[in-house]
Amino acid sequence: MEKIALVTGSSSGIGFETSLALARDGYYTFASMRDITKGTTLKEIAKKEDISIEVIEMDVDKEESIKSAIEKIFVDKKRLDLLVNNAGYGQFGCTEDVTIEEFREQFDTNFFSIVKIIQEVAPIMRKQKSGIIVNVGSIVGRMGLPGSSAYISTKFALEGLSECLRYELGMFGIKITIIEPGVIKTNFFDSMRIPHSKTDPKYQEITEHILNGLKMMVEMGTDPSQVAQSIINAIHDKEILPRYVVGSDALMFIEAKKAKTDLEFERYMSKELFPS
Ligand SMILES: NC(=O)c1ccc[n+]([C@@H]2O[C@H](COP(=O)([O-])OP(=O)(O)OC[C@H]3O[C@@H](n4cnc5c(N)ncnc54)[C@H](OP(=O)(O)O)[C@@H]3O)[C@@H](O)[C@H]2O)c1
Repeated sequence: MEKIALVTGSSSGIGFETSLALARDGYYTFASMRDITKGTTLKEIAKKEDISIEVIEMDVDKEESIKSAIEKIFVDKKRLDLLVNNAGYGQFGCTEDVTIEEFREQFDTNFFSIVKIIQEVAPIMRKQKSGIIVNVGSIVGRMGLPGSSAYISTKFALEGLSECLRYELGMFGIKITIIEPGVIKTNFFDSMRIPHSKTDPKYQEITEHILNGLKMMVEMGTDPSQVAQSIINAIHDKEILPRYVVGSDALMFIEAKKAKTDLEFERYMSKELFPS
């Protein structure tokens, strides 16, 4: 039977590569994006390689857009085997510098949209008694850092949601996992939102320091195709694990976190971030 996949945020980066990797793996892949004019390259590659990619519109900030995209998939294909929740952006800035509206917008796109999409997709998968949901989290979903608390909080929230869903949807044969990439070479850092509010010069100093560090890391960052490959590996695992870490930087931090107490890890990260 033809396997059907849906990926959000397929216009670039991890979503783009994951849509291609899934289609190459035999999935009929609905590559969703809010601006379908950005789907030209995906369509050209799909045609050239004779793989099944259909570009569809979905703005994850709009409930109606989510509903109509999933309805279209169900009407056309009558099933959905795999959902990859990938769309997102980064709101930077220290907590006091980020307005409550900016916090809410960040949660709307990176977290509440995923809740909504799962609420639309779960009934289809429950009826099938099968399905896989892959949430694209981040290594910062497991460690707080200064300068981007809104973004990091969404990824912590996604960790919690994913763990809960493993029990709730697991009962119906639906598998959930979260992918935790480190720094990946994508458009992510160009699309970051930097706050207008400047409460204290010290906050600005910290945010700029972190941003400059990240920009340097991006140069040596992991290719998004590796995240896509780790998603392919995850969905083929005999037993899909709760989480998969991607990238040597992410693995290094997670190993350090496992080996240290919370306080030791905080001191270690402070030295990594602010070497004096
Ligand atoms: N790059 C990293 O270092 C890194 C590390 C860990 C986790 N991640 C996570 O990986 C995911 C993908 O990011 P990326 O690195 O591939 O960055 P990216 O190249 O900027 O891709 C982000 C994607 O999300 C889409 N998007 C944003 N808001 C949307 C909305 N309201 N509706 C639909 N699509 C929307 C963007 O679409 P437009 O083209 O329309 O803007 C784009 O397709 C994100 O969840 C991010 O948090 C990234």
